[in-house]
Amino acid sequence: MNAVIYFSCSGQSKAVAEDLAKRLGYDLYETGNAEGMIFESVAIVFPIHCQSYPTPMKSFFKALNAKHVTLIATYGREHCGNALYEAAKLIKGDVIAGAYLPAKHTYCETGDTVFVPEEIICKMLAPTPIKIPKLKKTPFAGLLPSARSRMIISIKKTENCVSCGICGGLCPTGAIENGKISTKCIRCLKCVSNCPQKALAVKKSRILRQYLRKPRFEKTIIYK
Ligand SMILES: Cc1cc2nc3c(=O)[nH]c(=O)nc-3n(C[C@H](O)[C@H](O)[C@H](O)COP(=O)(O)O)c2cc1C
Repeated sequence: MNAVIYFSCSGQSKAVAEDLAKRLGYDLYETGNAEGMIFESVAIVFPIHCQSYPTPMKSFFKALNAKHVTLIATYGREHCGNALYEAAKLIKGDVIAGAYLPAKHTYCETGDTVFVPEEIICKMLAPTPIKIPKLKKTPFAGLLPSARSRMIISIKKTENCVSCGICGGLCPTGAIENGKISTKCIRCLKCVSNCPQKALAVKKSRILRQYLRKPRFEKTIIYK
């Protein structure tokens, strides 16, 4: 079986995965729905979090049963870090292609939609194993990423909340229980993006606002 599998919080990686699955004619799954399946060829689309893969993806990469794997990371044009190398180390199958795609940052209101370059699709259709090179991360990028994210952005419930519990069911770290957000929260904002009542308000710290105003890193990096 061939598939595109995605992990997505604010929708960028999901949009990339949907487009890729359509172009390839592959099945489309969210990471949680692909557990226990065996694949011939998969493309995995996920966001960069704190210059690596999102922490809930570690167990997914370890358990993945696929012969050929393509790794595609969308990043918020800050720093793509070293996510593909770190993910490739956890995967048992052959990595055959990879890409870092500059996308809209989860914490910014505006940004462009991105697409997987055609050369990645060509490589997926003529697979040979590759080595993903190790890239540099900024110092401390891997140090307590969730705690750092929680310090720069806060999420508050507003009076629009109808206690439907959808946010709790969607949270990739199980951080919302009885409507309360615990320290397991990684500030991925999946709850905020998917709340049908738009009942969750986000407050960015001054440091984060200044950081987001800096010039962006726009590079598409392709491995094939
Ligand atoms: C907790 C968190 C950490 C992030 N860290 C980075 C980062 O280190 N570098 C970067 O360029 N973008 C970073 N981003 C932005 C996302 O990588 C980017 O917006 C991505 O396209 C979001 O994909 P999604 O909509 O599928 O969740 C971060 C976003 C979140 C929520």
